[in-house]
Amino acid sequence: MDQLDPPFDPKDFRRALGMFATGVTIVTACAEDGTPVGITANSFNSVSLEPPMVLWSLANNARSLPVFSATKHWNVHILSNEQEALSNRFARTGEDKFAGLALDKSVNSAPLLPGCSARFQCRTAFQYEGGDHTIFVGEVVQYDSCALPPLLYVTGGYALAARKAGPVSTEPLANMDGASYSENLLGYLFGRAHFQFVHGLRDTLQQRQLSDTDFFVLSLLSVRQPLASAEIAAHIAYTGVDLGAGALQSMVRRGLLLEQAGTETGLRLSPAGSDAILHVLAAAKAVEADLVNRMGELESAALRNLLKQAILATDPGLPKLWQSAAAPHQA
Ligand SMILES: Cc1cc2nc3c(=O)[nH]c(=O)nc-3n(C[C@H](O)[C@H](O)[C@H](O)COP(=O)(O)O)c2cc1C
Repeated sequence: MDQLDPPFDPKDFRRALGMFATGVTIVTACAEDGTPVGITANSFNSVSLEPPMVLWSLANNARSLPVFSATKHWNVHILSNEQEALSNRFARTGEDKFAGLALDKSVNSAPLLPGCSARFQCRTAFQYEGGDHTIFVGEVVQYDSCALPPLLYVTGGYALAARKAGPVSTEPLANMDGASYSENLLGYLFGRAHFQFVHGLRDTLQQRQLSDTDFFVLSLLSVRQPLASAEIAAHIAYTGVDLGAGALQSMVRRGLLLEQAGTETGLRLSPAGSDAILHVLAAAKAVEADLVNRMGELESAALRNLLKQAILATDPGLPKLWQSAAAPHQA
């Protein structure tokens, strides 16, 4: 076999291979004495449709190699994006990887893990030497799959899949020396996506005679209440809305909020305020369900992930709304 020019750097080779995005699988089998084994593997690939065949490769220094070499039966689990912890668990050598795990019934002796995007129950067809790995080719005896978005692995880290979007139907304006406004500007995309989403709530907001500020305050209090006026203002300031003294008082006068006196002074939702926000949130859920339906589960999960990254990267230091600090404030 021809050698690569020295010096060959295995780390650099691995980094180059990492440019190839893969899914993440766990492959399981059972030793003759009944001990289950399993490893995280991204070397999985499809081989043949008829007969249905798949392959994966196992490092020759893996503890589980003797078991996989001896048995004819193994199961490949394509992990879902919610199974990152499971992937990490099965990537560690030595520990009892199956402790506390519920298993499904499999057609063979190998453990079958639930909650995966797809599963292939296999029988070894061929086994080859492949350098410092052993390649297993298996015939698929049984398989199942569901709509859970799969976990991906690329450039040495976990990732989520999203199909590439077609262009939004806008054209960049004529170039104004680097100041042109284009459909690829994140600011434009954020803004347009936000307003198009909120557009789906307009009718409900108008029917209830709620302004955007009313909506914001009501939804804030639906998560956490009571809140003092200053706290509400602190939560809302980043939207650019200056609440002033009048806006909250107007909501009290319109019967949407109640002023609570006593040790915990603050504002809370009135029954009418609760009812109004319930209806608006129901409309928001319907818009969201429609969006997820149009975009697909895969893209929706990837979008949530990217929006969270963007929110973290631009967080001006907002008070934490959903964290345990909320507990003492709750009614
Ligand atoms: C994302 C990812 C992919 C992996 N892919 C493989 C693989 O394809 N083959 C392999 O032998 N090890 C792979 N590993 C490493 C094994 O999961 C790890 O060495 C495992 O603990 C071996 O288990 P064992 O020594 O208990 O048999 C991968 C690890 C990760 C995190």
